[in-house]
Amino acid sequence: MKVITSIKEMQQYIMTVKQSGKTVGFVPTMGYLHEGHLTLMNQAKNENDLLAVSIFVNPLQFGPNEDFDSYPRDFERDSQLAEKNGVDVLFHPSTEEMYPTKMSLAAKVHSRIDVLCGRQRNGHFDGVATVLIKLFNIVQPDRAYFGLKDAQQVAVVDGLITDFNFPITLVPVEIVREEDGLAKSSRNVNLTDQERIEAYRLFESLQMAKQAILDGERDPKVIEELIQNHILEHTSGDIDYVEIYRYPELDELTELTGKIIIAIAVKFTNVRLIDNITFDV
Ligand code: PAF
Repeated sequence: MKVITSIKEMQQYIMTVKQSGKTVGFVPTMGYLHEGHLTLMNQAKNENDLLAVSIFVNPLQFGPNEDFDSYPRDFERDSQLAEKNGVDVLFHPSTEEMYPTKMSLAAKVHSRIDVLCGRQRNGHFDGVATVLIKLFNIVQPDRAYFGLKDAQQVAVVDGLITDFNFPITLVPVEIVREEDGLAKSSRNVNLTDQERIEAYRLFESLQMAKQAILDGERDPKVIEELIQNHILEHTSGDIDYVEIYRYPELDELTELTGKIIIAIAVKFTNVRLIDNITFDV
């Protein structure tokens, strides 16, 4: 595995790869790799000639009260995991390399952000879009892989690729789940024992909602209520949101048709869990 920290060197390396006719699959990350990342890498490895992964904790996407300084970092462990999982090139630039001076220009995301978790994260997706424009220009992937656990980020990247005409195929990758259906997350360890027993009810509520829609229910309010009641009845969590939108546009719907997302966020004692499903009606 090649580790590259310089943008120039990465661009030269990718140019040689592309000249030899190879396809590049790209998994951008902020490091501290977990099973979700490894699933993306695995799929990217299978679908491309070369697997490129970036590790860069992007300061632009953290708000003033968010955990940029304390964000977990362990490059030694990450590079071992990357090598074991077939990564061909690991791009690991410093903050100074990526942002040598204050940027004179940056991305501003206009839609798909004032809903779901984005509502509480002012400016977050501007930072994500800005770093991805840079990373896409540096890595020049044929395919870029993002997990549907953060379906709003996937929606924003979809808009970015379309609006800025990047010749990149966006590959959204399904949520990886525990055996009982709970979406995998490093935060699940913060559930109490009792909460962990109840937590599968979140996914169960989404599946029930999907079934009700497939059985003919078309009113989003009815479906939202069904989910809320199921979660309140079977868990001790506090519902943060239950929302349904057209996907990936994240527009409101009065009638459930086309491709939709149902997304939920539920607060437990020490952790807030999110989950979602996307499907065609
Ligand atoms: O999902 C992440 O880890 C980050 O938002 C990303 C896409 C690597 C951009 O910094």
